[in-house]
Amino acid sequence: MNIPFRKDSKFCSFFSYSKTFVAIVIAILLSIPSLVYAQDSTAAAGAAPAGGGDAAKGEALFKNNCAQCHAVTDERVVGPGLKGASARHDFAWLSKWVRNSQAVIASGDPYAVKIYNEYAKAQMTSFPNLSDDDIKGIFAYIDQAGAAAPAAAAAPAAGGASGGAASAQGGGPSDLFVIVLGALVVVMLLVLGVLLVIVSLLSKAVSGEPGVVVEKEDFMTRLGSSLKRIASDPAIRSATIWIFVLLVLKATIDGAYSVGVQQGYAPKQPISFSHKLHAGEYKIDCNYCHTGVNRGKSAHIPSANICMNCHGVIKKESPEIQKIYTSIENNQPIEWVRVHNLPDLAYFNHAQHVNVGGLECQNCHGEVEKMEVIQQRSSLTMGWCIDCHRKTEVNTKDNKYYDKLVQLHAGESKEALKVADIGGLECSKCHY
Ligand code: HEC
Ligand code: HEC
Ligand code: HEC
Ligand code: HEC
Ligand code: HEC
Ligand code: HEC
Repeated sequence: MNIPFRKDSKFCSFFSYSKTFVAIVIAILLSIPSLVYAQDSTAAAGAAPAGGGDAAKGEALFKNNCAQCHAVTDERVVGPGLKGASARHDFAWLSKWVRNSQAVIASGDPYAVKIYNEYAKAQMTSFPNLSDDDIKGIFAYIDQAGAAAPAAAAAPAAGGASGGAASAQGGGPSDLFVIVLGALVVVMLLVLGVLLVIVSLLSKAVSGEPGVVVEKEDFMTRLGSSLKRIASDPAIRSATIWIFVLLVLKATIDGAYSVGVQQGYAPKQPISFSHKLHAGEYKIDCNYCHTGVNRGKSAHIPSANICMNCHGVIKKESPEIQKIYTSIENNQPIEWVRVHNLPDLAYFNHAQHVNVGGLECQNCHGEVEKMEVIQQRSSLTMGWCIDCHRKTEVNTKDNKYYDKLVQLHAGESKEALKVADIGGLECSKCHY
């Protein structure tokens, strides 16, 4: 007997196909964050306390407070290498010393007096605010990192520290991984869309002719014929062509706008100078090297003399540091490759922005203290300057120059005084 086709029963199973499919896609979408961050949690687990103190917390404390003067190895920086310090002293001595080394020296402690003299009476900073737990954590970290660093005396002072940072960073997902996952999801969603279209086309076809007996076609033939129908639909075809044309057009326009824009430019420099090491780990102030930022138009690139303030003693044997010596001996400046460069028609002044405006370097240059190689992070286009001038309030605090202007402005408008209001959009302010 021939049972007439009942669309609900047959299509029920069809819909449950697509329901399963939706469920799969949702499951994949939900699992992405955990896939991506799974690596992070293993990295965190790797940095678990070594016993005694919390080494992970200690690492941050060490890098923020001690790393500019101490290495975790045997090597001498400003103070002695701290490898084995927790074995040389009991904890009571260490905690007293770290909180106030001068008091320990003044008490006549023979070891303290000896190293104080040995280090030419250099005074170690006091850290009265560190708790016992903090100090335990710091030495737990030193023991862990000191053991991980190569035993050779020539091991770089920062070797242990930067190694730690690098492995912590390695925990993040690679860009490629995220892109591949993203692409997969997009493909999945497209397939899902096509399936749903097919379902709706088929159900429309069937609902037009109720009671029709449909032959038992297998799923693939149905899919094939529906795809053919979609491909031959003139509306869909012309839509596809339009989308293609618009994409090409957009790519061309974007390309034209980016002529002369060097965002992301990060050339190789003649000496592998690292901001991550100097400004990040050793926390040397930007101002120490870029002496012009508060005083004038140009920030200045430091001369070799500034490097010699430290490298006269630190790491002299490194081939990279030897390049500084060569440059001084030959009286030839180091030929750094310029990264940021506005065209001559534009005028930009650092002091105006940093000193008067109170802006952080990072507003415009990004997280320089994390860059191994310096990179241009902002586009440096006119639109970029103008956009910030429209949005940013003028730093009028403790600046008498602005008092009258603020008063006048408050009479005219309820909004705060923006850079745009003091002429930050006038052509002649930025163009000679
Ligand atoms: C400004 C530089 C400086 C900073 C910052 C500094 N120290 Fe020191 N530290 C020294 C100097 C210099 C000595 C050698 C003794 C002296 O001259 O007072 C020393 C000695 C020590 C000693 C004794 C070393 C030994 O071998 O017995 C310990 C332990 C120590 N510091 C721990 C720390 C810890 C922990 C921190 C961070 C919380 C820290 N120091 C931060 C300069 C510093
Ligand atoms: C120890 C000295 C030193 C310190 C500290 C330092 N810099 Fe630099 N900086 C340099 C040197 C040398 C160069 C040129 C070599 C290079 O590009 O890496 C440079 C280059 C730059 C450049 C690119 C210049 C160009 O060619 O366009 C920027 C931007 C910059 N530094 C910002 C900063 C900021 C922001 C800080 C603080 C977070 C900082 N610097 C701290 C020495 C230093
Ligand atoms: C305030 C001190 C200070 C100044 C100024 C300074 N450095 Fe350094 N620099 C350091 C310290 C500390 C290290 C880490 C040394 C170590 O790893 O033992 C270092 C490491 C380096 C290294 C890595 C050396 C290696 O082989 O591991 C290079 C290259 C370097 N500095 C270049 C420069 C240049 C170029 C300048 C001048 C623009 C400069 N430094 C200015 C303190 C300074
Ligand atoms: C308002 C944005 C802005 C801020 C804030 C800023 N810079 Fe710049 N910086 C620029 C621009 C734009 C250039 C390119 C200037 C040029 O080519 O004339 C530049 C160039 C530089 C250069 C290359 C040398 C030069 O002067 O041309 C260095 C080094 C530099 N900046 C360091 C710093 C440091 C350090 C700070 C923080 C104290 C800082 N900048 C804050 C926008 C900024
Ligand atoms: C991150 C925000 C920011 C960016 C980006 C920025 N500026 Fe500014 N700019 C300011 C602020 C804030 C002031 C106000 C400083 C003050 O109080 O005088 C200012 C002031 C100025 C002034 C003085 C305006 C006046 O009327 O006194 C000039 C000129 C200027 N900027 C040029 C530029 C140029 C050129 C660029 C792009 C290369 C630029 N700025 C990018 C924030 C920015
Ligand atoms: C806040 C600063 C600022 C103001 C105000 C400003 N400009 Fe610019 N302008 C720039 C900078 C920076 C560049 C260079 C951009 C680049 O290299 O991409 C530029 C580039 C240009 C260029 C060259 C375009 C190119 O692509 O090379 C022209 C033309 C120009 N500006 C005209 C004007 C006119 C007209 C005004 C007034 C209505 C004006 N600008 C106001 C900062 C400014």
